[in-house]
Amino acid sequence: MGVLDKDELRRKPVEELTREEAARELARLAKEIAEYDRHYYIEDAPIISDADYDALRRRNDAIEARFPDLIRPDSPSRRVGAEPSGKFRKVKHAVPMLSLSNTLDDGGVRDFERRVRRFLGLSMEDGLDFTAEPKFDGLSISLRYEAGKLVVAATRGDGYVGEDVTANARTISDIPQQVDAADFPSIMEVRGEVYLPISAFMKLNEEQQAHGQKVFANPRNAAAGSLRQLDPEITAQRPLRFYVWGWGEHSQLPEDSEWGMMAKFREWGFPVSDHNEIHHHADGLLDYHARMLELRPDLDFDIDGVVYKVNRLDYRQRLGFVARAPRWAIAHKFPAHKGITILKDIQIHVGRTGALTPVGILEPVTIGGVVVSRVSLHNEDYIKGIGSDGQPIRDGKDIRVGDTVVVERAGDVIPQIADVLLDKRPKDSRPYEFPTHCPVCGSKAVREFNPRTGKLDSVRRCTGGLYCPAQAVERLKHFVSRHAFDIDGLGEKAIAQFFDHKFIRTPADIFTLQEREEKGEICIHCLPGWGEKKIANLFAAIDARRSIGLERFIHALGIRHVGENTARLLARHYGDWAHFSAAMDQIAGDERSEAASELENIDGLGPVVVEALHDFFAEPHNLQVIGKLLEEVRIEPVEQVAADSPVAGKTIVFTGHLEAMTRDEAKALAERLGAKVTNSVSRRTDIVVAGPGAGSKLNKASELGVRVIDEAEWLKLAGMDKG
Ligand code: IVH
Repeated sequence: MGVLDKDELRRKPVEELTREEAARELARLAKEIAEYDRHYYIEDAPIISDADYDALRRRNDAIEARFPDLIRPDSPSRRVGAEPSGKFRKVKHAVPMLSLSNTLDDGGVRDFERRVRRFLGLSMEDGLDFTAEPKFDGLSISLRYEAGKLVVAATRGDGYVGEDVTANARTISDIPQQVDAADFPSIMEVRGEVYLPISAFMKLNEEQQAHGQKVFANPRNAAAGSLRQLDPEITAQRPLRFYVWGWGEHSQLPEDSEWGMMAKFREWGFPVSDHNEIHHHADGLLDYHARMLELRPDLDFDIDGVVYKVNRLDYRQRLGFVARAPRWAIAHKFPAHKGITILKDIQIHVGRTGALTPVGILEPVTIGGVVVSRVSLHNEDYIKGIGSDGQPIRDGKDIRVGDTVVVERAGDVIPQIADVLLDKRPKDSRPYEFPTHCPVCGSKAVREFNPRTGKLDSVRRCTGGLYCPAQAVERLKHFVSRHAFDIDGLGEKAIAQFFDHKFIRTPADIFTLQEREEKGEICIHCLPGWGEKKIANLFAAIDARRSIGLERFIHALGIRHVGENTARLLARHYGDWAHFSAAMDQIAGDERSEAASELENIDGLGPVVVEALHDFFAEPHNLQVIGKLLEEVRIEPVEQVAADSPVAGKTIVFTGHLEAMTRDEAKALAERLGAKVTNSVSRRTDIVVAGPGAGSKLNKASELGVRVIDEAEWLKLAGMDKG
């Protein structure tokens, strides 16, 4: 038989693998699992479902069981988690934080009971207590108390070395800072799970989305991301909670069983689950598992299974550990929440920042007691089967309307499409074509190029910022904000109120409010809180802004990547609206026009800004909105600071070493005198100031016949040679 290719090999049953194939598979699994661990533990962003991940680990374990001599030094079975990320100080655990072996089926639980009894020399009739507890799906943490005081809080890390998150843990109100009880051991490491309640997770994701920030895949990742913040203030704003499930190093223990210890922890002020129980046989444990599975959708925290532990601590001592897990405990995981259904449609939602997000509409399906009818499809690459790292996902299968899909509730909250069943794909189906225009306003939607990564942004955005109703409220709020039009009395609340009543849609509408109110077309005074005086003040404030500086005007447009500083640079460079808009016309027509390269040359600007300007001014809807606005307001040119300076209006390039001032100082001085400073020499350059060590720019200047002066002459021109 020939050599199997990679895909054939990964599907071959473990029992049929030859020795060579087993070695190849173990190498592949070690590499893949390490990569998934890195995403999960260090980046807090898993790229594989829990079920698929567990399947990989099980395959690895099964191959190792058949070929124990092939176990690799870097085998996943020898590691727990991933190494710490380096963001935080490292903490070595006095007692390692190991893992649990786990089973998915009843047989595994019966085996566990038999194994334990055999090891301890107990018959099936002899008395033996097991505790049964929820398996919290959060982030494990070890809290070290010395003389009753919390001294260190550390994450699990790789099980041996974790990260010091003490400052962050102190912000969690469930975690006592101090325990005064007389029987609290002088050294005590309390271990448990930090988690984010599901309700808090939902709220956090809504806020993250609204602010254009990373949305977490599930509560566990959100908890991890929240605990591993460099700024404890941020952690403090996330309502993290804590449950105890065990302990590490200790000076002595007041109890001789898990049950007794949990009662003590509760007494000492630590949260202990109310769902813990005691059972004597596998039957009782299995019944517990079934009840918890049913209860799961009603809990405000994620559990991914239950844990059974031998209750007596002396038994535990005798049972000890195998590899990285105790022989005295086992996790009984819940099956992955999966369902199969049909993708009926793909709809595009436009967010407040203009991001186009695809949403899958499903034939409703019940998964784990919850009806799922929508799934997030993230972005267009995801639909094509490409992950955020450019690697294939779902084995590279794309998602099409009409497909039969496997839906999984990852972390058991946000549904995801885990797989596409290609044999059920309708013959006439076509790949999904992601819209190139905004479905809300019809403006062009673009993916920005990120020069840092050399890749296109995964998100496609509507460019009709000023016009698009989906973005209007955000844009209007920005428009009137303090560093933009700064209209007193027209705050965020008023904007939202006026927008809801359709009094304003685009910025120009702000300036016609008074006229329309007076004509009775709208009724501001009918709204609660709008008395005569307040309305008069508002109209006066609006009138005061009918004339506005170019810099503020550009900033107010809310063009992507054009903040206050960039707006200032642009305004100074062009001086007035006529020059600015003429240049924007050119850039809109051609991103490589002369106007564009001139802009890219300005210190502080670059291709990202040029692309954003191109996208914005190429969209006719935006021009329409600006046109209306210009009927209402007058844009003041930038004040020339020193119009009489001999360098005013000149374009200057500095090159080589300067003696009397730094290059930045020279640049600031030139700008104050009304000059433009650019980085490279072109036909538009008026003066090159060359110090010692000047190179290619000097050559270019003489090639083009540009005037070259030395530092002394520059100081004279700048009027700095007088003292
Ligand atoms: S006992 C020697 N009990 O699951 C390890 N762990 O897969 C003893 N976990 O690292 C762990 N709930 O982060 C234990 N009731 C529970 C748990 C629990 C959640 C987590 C914990 C542990 C991981 C092991």
